[in-house]
Amino acid sequence: MLGLMQGRVLRPRHGPALTVRPLRHGDTKTVLAVFERMSDQSRRARFHGPKPTLSSRELAQLAIVDERHYVLVAYVHGDSTPVAIARLACNGDAAEIAFAVADEYQQLGIGSALTAELAADARAAGIREIIAHVSSDNPVAIALVRHLSRALHISRSGSELAIRAAIA
Ligand SMILES: CC(C)(COP(=O)(O)OP(=O)(O)OC[C@H]1O[C@@H](n2cnc3c(N)ncnc32)[C@H](O)[C@@H]1OP(=O)(O)O)[C@@H](O)C(=O)NCCC(=O)NCCS
Repeated sequence: MLGLMQGRVLRPRHGPALTVRPLRHGDTKTVLAVFERMSDQSRRARFHGPKPTLSSRELAQLAIVDERHYVLVAYVHGDSTPVAIARLACNGDAAEIAFAVADEYQQLGIGSALTAELAADARAAGIREIIAHVSSDNPVAIALVRHLSRALHISRSGSELAIRAAIA
């Protein structure tokens, strides 16, 4: 569904230039490399609960790339290990987004740049709405999703927010 592209360069607002490429199907090594750079707190925020390790089944699921699943991975120059990953799971013309940045590279604009790029790819592929599930105590993730669109619909279930961003 979403076409493959070559690596491209993004320039986050405060941080180093990023080289971004799509994940190849089955590349669990890259998924694990980002996970290993995340603190317990970031892992909890990303997976909505404690997640000290990823099972091989979870890793395989996170590394699925097909007509419904699309993943971008980001690198900074001089660091051979990926620094961020963002994933879309499409369902019709809507797609659920999930994203993470290695702790040592957070607060540099990398998350914003990577998710904006993913949203642009989604829009180009005909996706009209991006849905993010984030905890209400995760203001950075909420701010990041807010950047995707001015047209937001937010619903709450307990401490979790479902944010729907119209991107068409
Ligand atoms: C969420 C996450 C990806 C953000 O990545 P990041 O690279 O640190 O984010 P950015 O530097 O692009 O900042 C995002 C925005 O949050 C804003 N922000 C930072 N701290 C904030 C705070 N305490 N309150 C509100 N907004 C805040 C930033 O100012 C920025 O907005 P701006 O571009 O208008 O300045 C990163 O914190 C992360 O990996 N968290 C763990 C995983 C997670 O929570 N995933 C979300 C659920 S899938």
